[in-house]
Amino acid sequence: MPVSREVRLVARPQGEPQESDFELAEVEVPEPGDGQILVRNDWISVDPYMRGRMNEAKSYVPPFELGEAMDGGAVGTVVASRAESVPVGSVVLHGLGWREHALLDARKARVLDTSAVPAEKYLGVLGMPGLTAYAGLVAIAPVKEGDVVFVSGAAGAVGSAAGQIARQLGAAKVVGSAGGPAKVAKLTGEYGFDAGIDYREGRLEEQLAEAAPEGIDVYFDNVGGDHLRAAISALNTGGRVAMCGAISQYNATGPVPGPDNLALAVGKRLTLRGFIVSDHGDLMGEYAARASEWLREGKLRSEETVVDGLDNAVDAFLGLLRGSNTGKMLVRL
Ligand SMILES: NC(=O)c1ccc[n+]([C@@H]2O[C@H](COP(=O)([O-])OP(=O)(O)OC[C@H]3O[C@@H](n4cnc5c(N)ncnc54)[C@H](OP(=O)(O)O)[C@@H]3O)[C@@H](O)[C@H]2O)c1
Repeated sequence: MPVSREVRLVARPQGEPQESDFELAEVEVPEPGDGQILVRNDWISVDPYMRGRMNEAKSYVPPFELGEAMDGGAVGTVVASRAESVPVGSVVLHGLGWREHALLDARKARVLDTSAVPAEKYLGVLGMPGLTAYAGLVAIAPVKEGDVVFVSGAAGAVGSAAGQIARQLGAAKVVGSAGGPAKVAKLTGEYGFDAGIDYREGRLEEQLAEAAPEGIDVYFDNVGGDHLRAAISALNTGGRVAMCGAISQYNATGPVPGPDNLALAVGKRLTLRGFIVSDHGDLMGEYAARASEWLREGKLRSEETVVDGLDNAVDAFLGLLRGSNTGKMLVRL
């Protein structure tokens, strides 16, 4: 029988995940039944939300089961099919990543049009991370013409899209923060941010005040913690915060303090609103149409940090949490 491989979670990480929390296992390649397809995964996505799924805690997605393959976004080629709608050779997007071969119901796969863009873009700028940025700035903390927008995690998949989308939605100034001078240079040099902040230098509030002395109107929060505190200080009256993620806290082993200046939200009439992209699938058609045009016109740039081989998928995930990616972190199989 042909053999395939998958990555399993074998221990729930305490703090930062370790290689020993995972195992690479061999399994038989299954045969599709009626209505099913067998996909050879070409690209798998590693995403920060997966860290939360490694915990036992109840959340908006169920935890990964110990001893079983993890899952997540993937793009691959159909190599066997018993579903007329998805023939062999189709390139599909689906949710069974972290493995070389995926057997699934054809109705759970989306056939991709790869004539104009490479398939892996559907895991990044044209997929979940891109839609997250768009939903945050259109539905959660709407950007208005002339706004000053601050984006944290700005060199990552969601953040790099958010900064550029904010500009397309009419922002007058876009400020981003990222870790290290190379990433910050990229923000202004390639992604069209007006100013970049290297948060590793510290002095976050001062740096933000220097970059946006007029204050900020919208904060797209990927990081939480000190970043959220600095943004609350900098927000103008009527300011809006799209609470997208809090990656600075994902490996925390105990309760983390909230921003100690939260009470400023009262006098400034701030709106702080959390959201999950899966609640905004209705925006996908609109986003895909606008993003494709922006991509064609060079107004929305995207990049991927590519790690090769399933053997290195855990390293890719650990690297993502430590900031070794610029743009979307992907594993190519
Ligand atoms: N709400 C939703 O539906 C939704 C959907 C997708 C993603 N998200 C969230 O959006 C955020 C970004 O996700 P992504 O997929 O685009 O990942 P990403 O930004 O491409 O990668 C993660 C980045 O986080 C940064 N980071 C790690 N630790 C940090 C810390 N302590 N302080 C500041 N930055 C830190 C690193 O960049 P540096 O080198 O700059 O530190 C790293 O490259 C995450 O919080 C994620 O959970 C939410």
